[in-house]
Amino acid sequence: MDCLVINGGHRLRGTLRVSGAKNAALPIMAAALLADGPSTIEDVPDLHDIQSQIDLLKMLGAEVVRTGSTIRIEVKDTGNSHAPYDVVRKMRASICVLGPLLAKRGIARVSMPGGCAIGDRPVDLHLRGLEALGASIDLENGDIVAKAKRLHGGAIFLGGNFGSTVLGTANVMSAATLAEGTTVIESAACEPEIVDLANYLRAMGAKITGDGTPRITIEGVTSLRGASHRIIPDRIEAGTFMIAAAITNGELQIDNVRPDHLMAFIDKLRAIGVIAEESGTGVIVSSQRNLRAVSLTTQPYPGFPTDLQAQFMALLTTADGNSIITEKIFPDRFMHVAELSRLGARIHREGPTVIVEGPRQLIGAPVMASDLRASAALVLAGLAARDTTTVNRVYHIDRGYEKIELRLKAVGADIQRKDEKDID
Ligand code: EPZ
Repeated sequence: MDCLVINGGHRLRGTLRVSGAKNAALPIMAAALLADGPSTIEDVPDLHDIQSQIDLLKMLGAEVVRTGSTIRIEVKDTGNSHAPYDVVRKMRASICVLGPLLAKRGIARVSMPGGCAIGDRPVDLHLRGLEALGASIDLENGDIVAKAKRLHGGAIFLGGNFGSTVLGTANVMSAATLAEGTTVIESAACEPEIVDLANYLRAMGAKITGDGTPRITIEGVTSLRGASHRIIPDRIEAGTFMIAAAITNGELQIDNVRPDHLMAFIDKLRAIGVIAEESGTGVIVSSQRNLRAVSLTTQPYPGFPTDLQAQFMALLTTADGNSIITEKIFPDRFMHVAELSRLGARIHREGPTVIVEGPRQLIGAPVMASDLRASAALVLAGLAARDTTTVNRVYHIDRGYEKIELRLKAVGADIQRKDEKDID
């Protein structure tokens, strides 16, 4: 198994380009199952999760050809509509084939996803939404089996105890494009990835309005054509690189960024004293130490994203004072706390809230990545720490960041990928 070995303390300087968004690409690739004809998706990052989605689409009868960062998807055979446990276990986002398969083929069998390192992750809202469109849903041998001759439009409330659901909104919106009549999704997720999916579906001929707001209206059509689409920049990768600049007191020009997708995050960066300025199609981020503590709460978009909570926590260990972080989306998403503490951070957790005491000089140590964003937080902490940090189980980071070590190295980080066996 690979690990990342980081000798911290180097200021990062230079230019980085942000990749297309993984979390936009995954549901968009699934939605290609709705089309009669080929779709071409551009700026798809080269990540393990994307490869898992390609493998799944092939299993479901699609021909998928990747050329650089462009993927062409065309359904050739509709005989198999089963996403089995082996696939869904590896990548929870496989659930986003449920809506497209059901709407296009009248049947979908998708293994019920389990929990994961960031906590319980139910799919009740996805299922309630599809039921409201007329699907019958059963659980057989651990598989969700959804059936409907033709879905019909309906009014659906997708709010849950922790806000709306991003992939649930993607599933219901995709399915409703081919339903008979009009569907209104209330309390829809407003994330930019949902707007990107709606843009792709519209290019295919779908009639969708209101995406980006809590009320999405979809007027069903009888068929959709293939379409070309370019994926939006990954806002979470952009935020991670911005923190890399700040935590190393460096200066990075980060290209292919949509600052309007990161307003809550940039607001907090500025509140603690980081300088972030828009420049062309990107941002320039720099910092001169003397960061200040802050309070933040993760929230559905446009609030502060849960997917940047761990990375921001790493940064706050270097800020002066007590910071308070409350996690409102996944209240148990704190696996990184114990690992950051191994590097010398002082963090106290009380339920969904942590207090981060700073500033602390982090000191390198071996640490264990538990999930994608926790791994990113540990890499960031390693960049700031004195001595050597070894981040084990780095396959988590490969799920969401393309060639992270090469890109960080190019802007001055001392970071190498090694086999865990070769580490003393
Ligand atoms: C998406 O997951 C992202 N994944 C996650 O990113 C992200 O953390 C999350 O949205 C929140 O922004 C992809 O896009 C592939 P949710 P999703 O359904 O859609 C509860 C990363 O690091 N809920 O919006 O699965 C749920 O438990 C990943 O890239 C229900 O109660 O998340 C949570 O508390 C990790 N019932 C809240 O809603 C449901 O049926 C939001 O989850 C569904 C969700």
